[in-house]
Amino acid sequence: MNIENYKALISAETMMGPNSARILAELLHKYPLQLASDESILDLGCGTGLTSLILAKETGARVFADDLWISAEENRKRFDMWGVGEQIVPVCGDANNLPFEKKQFRALISVDSYHYFAGNKGFFQEKILPFIKDDGMALIGVPGLKEEYTDRAEELLSDWLGADASMFKSPKRWKEIIGSDNCSESGDRIELVDTWEMECFQKAWGDWLSTDHPYALGDGTYFETVIQPYTCFVGMYIKLKKAL
Ligand SMILES: C[S@@+](CC[C@H](N)C(=O)[O-])C[C@H]1O[C@@H](n2cnc3c(N)ncnc32)[C@H](O)[C@@H]1O
Repeated sequence: MNIENYKALISAETMMGPNSARILAELLHKYPLQLASDESILDLGCGTGLTSLILAKETGARVFADDLWISAEENRKRFDMWGVGEQIVPVCGDANNLPFEKKQFRALISVDSYHYFAGNKGFFQEKILPFIKDDGMALIGVPGLKEEYTDRAEELLSDWLGADASMFKSPKRWKEIIGSDNCSESGDRIELVDTWEMECFQKAWGDWLSTDHPYALGDGTYFETVIQPYTCFVGMYIKLKKAL
């Protein structure tokens, strides 16, 4: 994808943190999505729906844009304004109790939100995996800890994040959390889990910090001392096995 195509829409009004379009671009570059036009994608924790718009444009597939804090009505207005109201279904749902059919989606995408709800072992298998088709995939990008600081989140980040510091985990820790089939719900459906430190860190943070959003101004005061030295973005790819 060419991020320049979406530049006009990337602003303090649509961003809720480091530029989600850059994180999505890197995920899709490393693990391209191949979908038939009658297949569906779930964009989980989509916020204002910027990533949902990009997924709709780049894949041609139907996108279900789910978020907890932003209402479906608000996102519907934005999707209509962007001309993709027919292709994107806005949903207001909690990842702990998703309102979808089993095996509805070929792919699940989640940018800068999975760490809010999925940090416990077994969550993926119990709450997410049932909704993904056989041979499908999940692609996830979250802020996390650089590998060398694994398990030191509270010590290093609590001045910046308070109690939310515990949500930040290293690529290695996320791989342990997602694991493989460590839960009876999953049967034997996971083929492979890859986690890595993403490359878009500087640019994604740079785009966010250059806005005049009040949260960006707050983050800016910790960037040099906390965010840049200790944190990264963690990419995650989970590939499901083909049907037996
Ligand atoms: C920092 S915002 C990021 C939004 C968007 N993905 C982006 O990158 O701009 C985190 C998002 O996670 C969503 N979220 C948090 N907990 C959730 C849950 N339990 N179920 C679904 N979404 C959740 C919030 O509604 C919020 O929009």
